[in-house]
Amino acid sequence: MNVLIIGQGAREHALGWKIKQSRHLTKLYFAPGNSGTALLGENVKLDLKDIAQMADWALAHQIDLTIVGPEDPLLDGIQNVFGEKGLLLFGPSRQGALLEASKVWSKDFLRKYKIPTAYAQSFVSPKEAKNYIQHLEPPFVVKADGLAQGKGVVVCKKREEGEQAVQKFMVEKKLGQAGEKILIEEFLPGEEISVFALLDGQRFCYLGEARDYKRAHDGDEGPNTGGMGSISFSSLLDEKRREEIKEKILTPTLKGLVSEKIDYRGVLYAGIMLTYEGPKVLEFNVRFGDPETQVLLPRMQEDLLPLLLHAAKGNLTEKKVELRLEAFVAVVVAANGYPGTYEKGFPLPDLEKWPLEILRFHANTFLGDGKHLNEGGRTLTVVASGNSLEDARKKVYQAIESSSWDHYFYRKDIGAKLVPMKARNE
Ligand code: AMP
Ligand code: GLY
Repeated sequence: MNVLIIGQGAREHALGWKIKQSRHLTKLYFAPGNSGTALLGENVKLDLKDIAQMADWALAHQIDLTIVGPEDPLLDGIQNVFGEKGLLLFGPSRQGALLEASKVWSKDFLRKYKIPTAYAQSFVSPKEAKNYIQHLEPPFVVKADGLAQGKGVVVCKKREEGEQAVQKFMVEKKLGQAGEKILIEEFLPGEEISVFALLDGQRFCYLGEARDYKRAHDGDEGPNTGGMGSISFSSLLDEKRREEIKEKILTPTLKGLVSEKIDYRGVLYAGIMLTYEGPKVLEFNVRFGDPETQVLLPRMQEDLLPLLLHAAKGNLTEKKVELRLEAFVAVVVAANGYPGTYEKGFPLPDLEKWPLEILRFHANTFLGDGKHLNEGGRTLTVVASGNSLEDARKKVYQAIESSSWDHYFYRKDIGAKLVPMKARNE
């Protein structure tokens, strides 16, 4: 099979790394890819905004399956356009992408299909939103409706913070259109987990769980980021809770999609809060998580390519995948200043001396003078496995600390301690 992976992050590098191991693979392309993916396949300069051009390219190069990493092309309707041209693509249609792209739409969907989630009200008027806040007991959460790269959610410990969020999103329009509508939502105490399943339009195949670390600095301090690290291991979730998530969340979500005539063929990523009342959906994403993918795929025993192909074709027979028992820890190395402003063009150190078992996934890197240079903030995900979380953690930090990181930083507490639910909310 000829496979095209769309995107340029570490998630796409990890997808490519896994697919490269498939015995069904003939040729692997990335668009646009990065200097890490160039070591696995061929990078192609395609404009991700120009879907028609991408489809023409895929036709001309006899692509058997296109796998979409980021959400934007999905919302732009890449599935719809490729589908019309008879091209097989892994990723939901434009309407399916609304599960991620509109929090108001998604909340209505959750409510309609009785899927457990936080209670919320939606607003289009800043005045009404501010009025509502006057009657609320904090903490509560203000969420911009649209895509906002992690900047659209404010957990408010005081009413004033809520008013400020409304002002910023709805009046000053700091997020543009994304903040024109908002949700004001009940705060859910609990432990957060990311759950992944493949959907083929009719069925789902359970992939697994991971936890990501969203804050920039150790101890969960600092601003929200795209994710500074992740962990995945077998006892992150017990079997009873896993079954509860399948029964109360995944099954009704799939039913809802079918009832809405949304032909969803892709990955569903549910951000879930494990609360005392059971699991509740915080958000849906319509793509693989980053950096969750970097720990989840190395845990997978089987060939990923047939699974993605079956999902795209609508003939998934697998109900779940086998995951390795080892623990996996991923640490993201980011440019100093991220998620604020940061400088570009800094070289990554030479990673050749690291043990081979340490995985390294690049994000937005390019080559200059034979070195991998950064273009984005999050630049490298380093992954190790071990017999325990502690063992995996030791290995990953040993590798990272053996290099010097001018201009880069990373969290030192990924996988260090799992804070029990109660302590976290006190
Ligand atoms: P979201 O983009 O909706 O996942 O929100 C970003 C982050 O805000 C989540 O990962 C949670 O840590 C937090 N969050 C969102 N909604 C809630 C909620 N209802 N209760 C508590 N925390 C929340
Ligand atoms: N890990 C968070 C995300 O991919 O959105």
